[in-house]
Amino acid sequence: MTLQTPATTPTHTPTQIIVRRLLREHILRYLPQMLVAGLFMAVVAATTAAYAYLVQPILDDIFINKDESSLMAITIAMLVVFGLKGMADYGQNVIMSRVSMRIVADIRQRVYQTLINADLAFFQDKSTGELIAGCMSNVDLMRDAVAKTLTGLAKDFMTLVFLVAVMFYQDWVMAVVSFFVFPLAALPTVLIGRKVRKRASRAWAELEQVTAFMSETFRGIRFIKAYGQEDHETERARERIDELFMRIFKTMRAKAVISPIMEILGGCAVAVIILYGGSQVIAGTTTTGAFFSFMTALLLAYQPMKNLAKLNNNLQEGLAAAQRVFALIDVEPTIRDRDGAVDLAVADGAIRMENVHFAYGDAPALHGVTIEVPAGTTAALVGASGAGKSTVLNLIPRFYEVGDGAVTVDGADVRDVTIASLRRNIALVSQEVALFNDTVRANIAYGRPDANDQEIESAARDAAAHDFIMALPDGYDTVVGESGLKLSGGQRQRLSIARAILRDAPILLLDEATSALDSQSEREVQQALARLAKGRTTVVVAHRLSTIADADTIYVLDQGHVVEAGSHAELLARRGAYAQMYALQVVDEPDPAAVAAGE
Ligand SMILES: Nc1ncnc2c1ncn2[C@@H]1O[C@H](COP(=O)(O)OP(=O)(O)O)[C@@H](O)[C@H]1O
Ligand SMILES: [Mg+2]
Repeated sequence: MTLQTPATTPTHTPTQIIVRRLLREHILRYLPQMLVAGLFMAVVAATTAAYAYLVQPILDDIFINKDESSLMAITIAMLVVFGLKGMADYGQNVIMSRVSMRIVADIRQRVYQTLINADLAFFQDKSTGELIAGCMSNVDLMRDAVAKTLTGLAKDFMTLVFLVAVMFYQDWVMAVVSFFVFPLAALPTVLIGRKVRKRASRAWAELEQVTAFMSETFRGIRFIKAYGQEDHETERARERIDELFMRIFKTMRAKAVISPIMEILGGCAVAVIILYGGSQVIAGTTTTGAFFSFMTALLLAYQPMKNLAKLNNNLQEGLAAAQRVFALIDVEPTIRDRDGAVDLAVADGAIRMENVHFAYGDAPALHGVTIEVPAGTTAALVGASGAGKSTVLNLIPRFYEVGDGAVTVDGADVRDVTIASLRRNIALVSQEVALFNDTVRANIAYGRPDANDQEIESAARDAAAHDFIMALPDGYDTVVGESGLKLSGGQRQRLSIARAILRDAPILLLDEATSALDSQSEREVQQALARLAKGRTTVVVAHRLSTIADADTIYVLDQGHVVEAGSHAELLARRGAYAQMYALQVVDEPDPAAVAAGE
């Protein structure tokens, strides 16, 4: 079984490839909106430069020459410039936010869709935290970087160009001087950038770990309390959170060096300009207005230049996140319809497993299992825990791919039919019950959303669930809480049985479906399941042997091998493994059938 690269693997895809992919798949389709935003950005850039330019007439005409006629004109020009700049800035901001949020939403939907379609095996080596980080925080990080980069490239760059034009217009010698001095200030950013990137990706990996740790402990809260491990978990959390703190702090510290260095170098440059420009003004070769206009342009250029210098850092951080996100988007299910797969035409759902070998990764679980369940009959799987019973059941809906051998339904290899049609014909009830935080009604109708109220209620009656449902505060409209937490284990199990009954599929797989029930409700549900199994092909795994005594064939599994097969009576007569297990159980517990008969 080949798994995709885990999201946290720090293998680095070349920058250009990630950038190209981001552009092609996510950014370019918003080109029209971004062009409009770019137009607004151009206005921001031009008005910023106009403001710097206007400093000259303000000083020279109004303050030095005291020219009254230009007072009004320049004031109005100033108002227009600021008004335009404000509106344009608002426009580009709104558009860019919208586009980048939209990109985030698109990516999140895609990641979720990929994950939900991934193989079961994929989820076994992933923590929930890792997957949620892939959908949420990584995508945010990516958006932040992409938005800053795009805005930086357009707005800051254009602003800089316009301001440099003003500087050249006012004094080209000074402009040339600053042109050489200022870019030096950007040097440290480039040098420190790589370090920042490496540290940031370590910090993010740790964040995933912390998220995973927390979600695990909150889910297991009952056991933490039962074993009195609150302090222990708090301590473990403290260690993780401290580690996270250290990693984030190191990232920030590396980043924090950049600003002061730039400021100091920038200050030196300004000092040089003042020295030179001041002497020019004193000598009368340039006007006070021109000098201050130049200085204004220079100071205004500082922020966009800083942004541009940081661009690479932002971009690298975003690309690291993008890479993690893409690693998830690229997960391909290995179990999928083969070319030309046809819909399974189930006549009656006979199941055959022929010499099936299977391993979870490198751990073998089944060794040449052969099981035959003729249409409409019931086969039971028994055996110690870990014998491979659930594994056998998992192979029928093709949750996993057999290593060797074949699983067929009505003679069709499960690998040759569409997965959707195969699973449509199967209802599964297992020990772990999945309920969603929705109403009882919606949970029962999960496998058949179009079912009407009568059908739902009748399924609930058959599953011995109707009475307790009616006793709930809102009956069928009661919301069951996350994972059905507001219900008891037995109630949850009965809802999942009702769900299977409503599904009305020709093949029924029961994996310790009644093991969470008390003996009273187990008896009720057992009868419901017996009714349900009638006329269907059923494979049942049961812990209590008395519940499967009338199965057509009983398979005894041991360490991935079928060691005995036959009817209850045949197996008892053999006096083998089954007879031993049965003997052990009947002395341990009263036979429910006998209890029901009032003995
Ligand atoms: N998802 C899994 N990943 C790795 N090993 C597994 C997985 N599920 C089950 N196993 C292993 O496969 C063997 C058979 O498990 P299973 O079929 O669940 O047993 P049973 O249902 O009979 O108790 C066991 O050794 C178990 O540890
Ligand atoms: Mg099992």
